[in-house]
Amino acid sequence: MCGIVGYLGHNEAAPILVEALKRLEYRGYDSAGIATIHDGHLGRRRAVGKLVNLSDKLVHEPLAGKSGIGHTRWATHGAPTETNAHPHRAGDVAVVHNGIIENFRELREELSAAGLTCETDTDTETVALLTRHYLDQGLPPVEAAYATLDRLEGAFALAFLFDGEADLLVAARKGSPLAIGHGEGEMYVGSDAIALSPLTNRITYLDEGDRAVITRTSVEIRDSDGRLANRPVKTVDLGSMTADKSGYKHYMAKEIAEQPAVIQTAISAYVPDRGDRITMPEGLPDFTGIERLTMVACGTAYYACLTAKYWFEQIARLPVEVDIASEFRYREPPVSPRTAALFVSQSGETADTLAALRYMRDKADSILSVVNVPESSIARESDVALPIHAGVEIGVASTKAFSCQLTVLFLLALKAAHDRGALSDEALADHLSSLRALPGQIQDALTLSDALHDISVDLAEARDVLFLGRGLMYPLALEGALKLKEISYIHAEAYASGELKHGPIALIDPAVPVVVMAPCDSLYDKTVSNMQEVMARGGRVVLITDAAGEKQSGAEVWHSLALPTVPEALTPMLYAIPAQLLAYHTAVTKGTDVDQPRNLAKSVTVE
Ligand code: G6P
Repeated sequence: MCGIVGYLGHNEAAPILVEALKRLEYRGYDSAGIATIHDGHLGRRRAVGKLVNLSDKLVHEPLAGKSGIGHTRWATHGAPTETNAHPHRAGDVAVVHNGIIENFRELREELSAAGLTCETDTDTETVALLTRHYLDQGLPPVEAAYATLDRLEGAFALAFLFDGEADLLVAARKGSPLAIGHGEGEMYVGSDAIALSPLTNRITYLDEGDRAVITRTSVEIRDSDGRLANRPVKTVDLGSMTADKSGYKHYMAKEIAEQPAVIQTAISAYVPDRGDRITMPEGLPDFTGIERLTMVACGTAYYACLTAKYWFEQIARLPVEVDIASEFRYREPPVSPRTAALFVSQSGETADTLAALRYMRDKADSILSVVNVPESSIARESDVALPIHAGVEIGVASTKAFSCQLTVLFLLALKAAHDRGALSDEALADHLSSLRALPGQIQDALTLSDALHDISVDLAEARDVLFLGRGLMYPLALEGALKLKEISYIHAEAYASGELKHGPIALIDPAVPVVVMAPCDSLYDKTVSNMQEVMARGGRVVLITDAAGEKQSGAEVWHSLALPTVPEALTPMLYAIPAQLLAYHTAVTKGTDVDQPRNLAKSVTVE
């Protein structure tokens, strides 16, 4: 979603701002712009589409100045046009914004009555106009920005730049993250530390409700009550922040290939020294006293939760409810005592997941989260945050974060099972020993990439694709369908195999390929029966299984693929690989924008 950057220093701001915006491209955007102060005066350039369009414009219409703000916009209110692109300017102020100003309509009416009319369709313009209104009333810039912030409802990260103020940036955070970078006589602002990673490794993360007044040599932060706040300057690990493609054609390909290593890192973080015990951070609930686990997430993280439900229920004998965050938060479900709430999020900033967490804050026995970004809002607002150690994920379609989420959720389910007496020491040790072998088996699965490429050439011709799976493979089928539609734009649906006869079978014909995910496990025979029903009706099946499954399929499938054989409980992490590679190769075959698919955003910080 929208990305914000800011710079105050002794170098030309425009190239620094554009480079920083490039590092936020992964969040998804459809227009971009910058504003600077030069000779005391505000100037701005904006362009629709990719950042290269903004760079081209800057070649023909350069923008000088050593202070500035920049923005990549993912359209919410108003089409992605140049007029709607940020920075928004009203008189002596320019503003960039990530989030949604919920009361913008009433503010707009009020401003219009005061003679200040909007020229764009955006909610953000009201922020600029309101600030102008206060400036016109004689308030100095910082007070005008603060008076504006007091009037805003909704979620925002904001940066303000003022005409005539070449050494001032005002920044604020409520609901959307914002980081301040410290340099030598230079200061930076970014939606995340990745944006600032080559510029500085000294970062201050604003807390919820914070406002900051920034100059080249200072930053003064106040909390939501206006009190001076002392926020630490952290030294972030630039290595883990610097993301390049390492020779791969796409970030997604690189991130798929990284999975053996990052899963290994995740395992080592919770199972130290090749031991047979799981070590988790302090503060986890006593699982013997927990009667219910409520898991909430969005997108791929939601499918990780659906998968984990099988583990928590089957291995830990703990009843689990899984919900989509945007549904959960407004349903206002009653929460029985002794419920633990678990939120799963790669970014840790997804607005709906965060809102669901806040809904559960005073209701659940404990609030846990499984996140990739330890500094994220969801991590900070949890009683215990379990990092997944996937490293920076740039591809909008989540891959390595999904398999690391699964790994950590599996370990948590094993811990809960052991604590609850549902899993013996020996059984726990067996699971952990199998888990330790998994990165190697995933490496083997990655060697099937060429075979999946061949299948994808056929799949790319399809308009619709069905995915089928049972048990642990049902959420995997859902994830496989999501991956395919996200990046190849082919319509894909997933069903629990057993549901086939209750409707989807009507769709079967030779033009609709059916991807069946079926390791030779306890449910294999049943899935194969469903597969036969598909083929009896002329359906073309892509069977993803293991050697035993391929042997026993007993049927002429269109394509089949044999993965390494792993214990049933670990099949989701392994079968994620072909699901991801199938989508990846199909998208590459179709020539779509794999890393930044149309309309999608990596981190969805608005409802
Ligand atoms: C967006 C992304 C998905 C992601 C989902 C949830 O839709 O495109 O890849 O799964 O948000 O994001 P989160 O950061 O909460 O895991």
